[in-house]
Amino acid sequence: MARKTIYDIQTKMGNEKITCLTAYTAPIARLLDEHIDILLVGDSLGMVLYDYENTLPVTLDQMIEHTKAVIKSTVKSCVIMDLPFGTYEESKEQAFSNALRSIKETNCAGVKLEGGILIKETVKYITERGIPVMGHIGLQPQSVILDGGYKIKGRDKFEWKKYIDDAISLENAGAFSIVLEGMVEPLAEEITKILNIPTIGIGASVKCDGQVLVTEDMLGLTNISPKFVKEYINIRAPIENAIKDYVSEVKSEKFPSEKHTYQMKPMIVKEEKK
Ligand code: KIV
Repeated sequence: MARKTIYDIQTKMGNEKITCLTAYTAPIARLLDEHIDILLVGDSLGMVLYDYENTLPVTLDQMIEHTKAVIKSTVKSCVIMDLPFGTYEESKEQAFSNALRSIKETNCAGVKLEGGILIKETVKYITERGIPVMGHIGLQPQSVILDGGYKIKGRDKFEWKKYIDDAISLENAGAFSIVLEGMVEPLAEEITKILNIPTIGIGASVKCDGQVLVTEDMLGLTNISPKFVKEYINIRAPIENAIKDYVSEVKSEKFPSEKHTYQMKPMIVKEEKK
């Protein structure tokens, strides 16, 4: 079974909407693989799995280990890995060397970098050396300190030029796709119309070529619920019920029952020779 390729994504899969969800671990990745076009090993794992306040402390080693698990447990989806904060900003050479390490150690299909026009030379440098890059503009979680919070972009039209220029510069630099995060619908629509490569939206409306969500958010496993998150199911309650049942059965010695308990082999008693 062949994995979805960067080429499939870049050519917008014949105008079919592109589906993307985050995956950080083997059990979730296994579930998603059959259904989802792109599995994003996002640095949001810092907040979702490690309870960090933001994505800034995430390291390249963490990203690589989680991406290895996702690759090992899947066969169909195109797997993209986030380069975390501090691993690509210093120079294009630093960015390439960390992107290369990520590809070599994980076998993922490409890397995602946050930033627009400011990192266009970096994106060009990496893609010209054979590593596919997904861009990420609009609300950039790695810029949370600089931005003073997570703010929706493009509410005033005078802001638009910056984001349109960001998108065009990434496409010209060779990005195969761009995540548009936290921006108003008309701006996302405008960028999607201008670009030849697909846009993947998160909090950026139905006008994008595809959508991405953090899987744990849409399963109701996280506590955050920004407007753009749709909770398709809330699995906290059934999980909590199962945990309560376990506690009560352990305390009452109902678990482990015979079914979950090992016994010795039946004893064969040899007849004594006379
Ligand atoms: O880190 C992440 O999970 C992301 C997506 C939400 C786009 O960047």
